[in-house]
Amino acid sequence: MSRIYLTPPHMGERERELLLDAFDSNWIAPVGPHIDAFEREFGEKVGGLHAVALSSGTAGLHLALLLLGVGRGDEVLVSTFTFAATANPVVYTGATPVFIDSDRRTWNMDPGLLEDELHACARRGKLPKAVIVVDIYGQCAEYDPILEACGKYGVPVIEDAAEALGATYNGLPAGKFGEAAVFSFNGNKILTTSGGGMLVSREASKIEKARFLAGQARASSPHYQHGEIGYNYRMSNLLAAVGRGQLVHLEERVARRRENYEFYREKIGDLPGVVFMPEAPQGRCSRWLTCLTIDIAAFGATPEDIRQALEAEDIESRPVWKPMHLQPVFRDCRVRGGQVSEEIFRDGLCLPSGTTLTQEDLGRIASIIRKTCGKAHGV
Ligand SMILES: Cc1ncc(COP(=O)(O)O)c(C=O)c1O
Repeated sequence: MSRIYLTPPHMGERERELLLDAFDSNWIAPVGPHIDAFEREFGEKVGGLHAVALSSGTAGLHLALLLLGVGRGDEVLVSTFTFAATANPVVYTGATPVFIDSDRRTWNMDPGLLEDELHACARRGKLPKAVIVVDIYGQCAEYDPILEACGKYGVPVIEDAAEALGATYNGLPAGKFGEAAVFSFNGNKILTTSGGGMLVSREASKIEKARFLAGQARASSPHYQHGEIGYNYRMSNLLAAVGRGQLVHLEERVARRRENYEFYREKIGDLPGVVFMPEAPQGRCSRWLTCLTIDIAAFGATPEDIRQALEAEDIESRPVWKPMHLQPVFRDCRVRGGQVSEEIFRDGLCLPSGTTLTQEDLGRIASIIRKTCGKAHGV
């Protein structure tokens, strides 16, 4: 039996055809017709936004910060419960991240703590230059109170929707909530181009500027005039072709991921101490990953016991993100709150969530978890 991965790529015939079309056309470059089409089709898919295709989601976050003028000496508020790629670009600009804890109801940034931090910053006379709000594991953050708090202090929001393509909040697609938003097409994401990202915005001028910076800030003159420092962040035309093939499957892939979650909930939701990541009432989570927490005393085993039991059967699962304020590299950064994400980290686990999982795979995974209940090594 072959290994079951956490969230492997899922390619189809259309992707192959488009990739070969790009190859045969000899547009083997970070320019070409598939890039233009991918940007247009993607922008439409996320509610009529302007879009620029990039080499990664991380590059998108870096450019978004630059567009908002973030630089040396600035502070940027960031969800602490995330992957390091959310916070690293803040440091690339010379600014400092300040971490905000999660709300237990969504696992995303707690709007009350955000408001408290903005208030404290205003009183100190130094507001953050931006806030990066993450839509974790395919669930949009609570944007009504978040945007209200940021609007009150005039601080712009960047939406890190890297994990949340296909999710909605109040009926609007992820990506619509910030001055700019970022998606990732890394190999583990709901749609993939092997590696890549998309920066989107309501403002065409922001996307034009990002496109300019991503192409080494090359002003239009035959000798390449450079008035600004640029970056080599554009996506290849080959990968854009793959992305176009993937994009047509989005709704079906979200539906499959939600079915995975429903399957797990039905088969192991009754076990003592098992609680799935909650779905906020205003939103529709894409369930990019199905995540749960374990009350160790009630379940009689730890998330690590489950992870090891699955691993012994060649099945990959993974702890949830370790909060950024616990990461050695960010140890000197301020954090508001912290306990909620620490508890989710202590108790959490991400289960295999790919769209190629069979009913048999899912059944095997559920039965291994069921057998682990009460079989603690260290409890
Ligand atoms: C929350 C989050 N932000 C940013 C990124 C960065 O995206 P990329 O890997 O495309 O640079 C990822 C995933 O990789 C992510 O999960």
